Amino acid sequence: MKRAIIIGATSGIGREVALKLLDEGWRLGIAGRREKELRELQLAAPELISFRVLDITKEDAPQRLLELIELTGGMDLFLQSSGIGDQNRELEPDIELRTIETNGVGFTRMVTAAFRYFREHGGGHLAVISSIAGTKGLGSAPAYSATKRFQNTYIEALAQLAHIKHLDIHFTDIRPGFVDTAILKGDKRYPMQMNPKQVAKHIVHALNHHKRVVVIDKRYAILVFFWRLIPRRIWERMTI
Ligand SMILES: NC(=O)c1ccc[n+]([C@@H]2O[C@H](COP(=O)([O-])OP(=O)(O)OC[C@H]3O[C@@H](n4cnc5c(N)ncnc54)[C@H](OP(=O)(O)O)[C@@H]3O)[C@@H](O)[C@H]2O)c1
Repeated sequence: MKRAIIIGATSGIGREVALKLLDEGWRLGIAGRREKELRELQLAAPELISFRVLDITKEDAPQRLLELIELTGGMDLFLQSSGIGDQNRELEPDIELRTIETNGVGFTRMVTAAFRYFREHGGGHLAVISSIAGTKGLGSAPAYSATKRFQNTYIEALAQLAHIKHLDIHFTDIRPGFVDTAILKGDKRYPMQMNPKQVAKHIVHALNHHKRVVVIDKRYAILVFFWRLIPRRIWERMTI
């Protein structure tokens, strides 16, 4: 039985991916800060799901990850879904710094811990949910877009490092467009907004096929392709 660890499984995309992997016969180790949500998800299959409360912004998170791996009986797939995001046109420093603390520092804390685990246990599959927001700097969400770009580059660097060190680690960088989850705060409907269940199906397909980078869905892949072609001088004058 294959074993997946999902960090950020208490809601949204991480939770839906957990349910889909469970359907496909995986054993799961799930984590996040909210214990009640973890317990509720565990009830879906108590004998197949272990959980550990952890906060990726805290220094003890890698130790808690190791405890979770132990409870799960090992780790074949690591999925980092935890993240926060806010629009911040007023450039409130607290929002910017909290986002960097979670999506930058916390992200690095967890993926490096997973990388070390795989290095010491003969390999594995390291996957992250970044975003299409990393494609370009977004004036409406500076720290969010910058930290998502950081995540894209960081995984690219780890993939090269694994190659240099002859490690059997596979990487998947999952870049969804807008998904109807709590992160969008329900304040408005975004263009081409997707359903988290549908997105989880795409993600599990990409994981099963060991895709290196996947933009979800095809409509967003086209959008991102054209965004990339826009010269900086024009991009910086656009209202997104
Ligand atoms: N929804 C979208 O439109 C969209 C688009 C592209 C990418 N994404 C990315 O998808 C990922 C999942 O987001 P979502 O849309 O599913 O939103 P969500 O429902 O708000 O889920 C966020 C998850 O992150 C966890 N989390 C946040 N801070 C954490 C911390 N300090 N320590 C541990 N876990 C933490 C939350 O768990 P706790 O609160 O229990 O800790 C929760 O499980 C994020 O990385 C997000 O950037 C989302």
